[in-house]
Amino acid sequence: MNQQIEAALNDQISKEASSSQYYLAMASWAETKGLSGTAFFMYAHSDEERFHMLKLVKFVNERGGRAIVPSITQPPSDFDTVQRMFELLLAHELTVTKSINEVVDICLKEKDYTTHNFMQWYVSEQMEEEALARSILDKLNLIGNEKGGMYLFDREMLEIANASANAQKNNG
Ligand code: FEO
Repeated sequence: MNQQIEAALNDQISKEASSSQYYLAMASWAETKGLSGTAFFMYAHSDEERFHMLKLVKFVNERGGRAIVPSITQPPSDFDTVQRMFELLLAHELTVTKSINEVVDICLKEKDYTTHNFMQWYVSEQMEEEALARSILDKLNLIGNEKGGMYLFDREMLEIANASANAQKNNG
């Protein structure tokens, strides 16, 4: 495997691992605030990021490279408000999108069309994740500080997480 591509993919492995840990911290925080639907959503999101990482690990090894399992820095343990937490989530996903685009860029420069093709899955995944984060933030902006609204929001987060889990099951 081309060394530059291998390094870029290993860097992405590290970012997906950090994302998983970051959302796990958000899940744990939401759980301690009694937001069980939001916590469920974040636990599932953390699992998805781990899956993103594993998919890269396997790809690098299958293509003759060597995947490096990274160490991870401790994420924050307090997120202040649900709104703030989702703002951080969106900001984080935007940095992940940027780094995925950089990997795609390197693939094109190095004429590695196989990895380029593999990375397209991540490109569309990022589009979905950004859109979902924006729609959740829109809901939160509508609710404002209303307590009853937050109760309904939390239930809806549970539904979103369940719908996404079912869609993934049906897609194989
Ligand atoms: Fe794997 Fe949310 O980026």
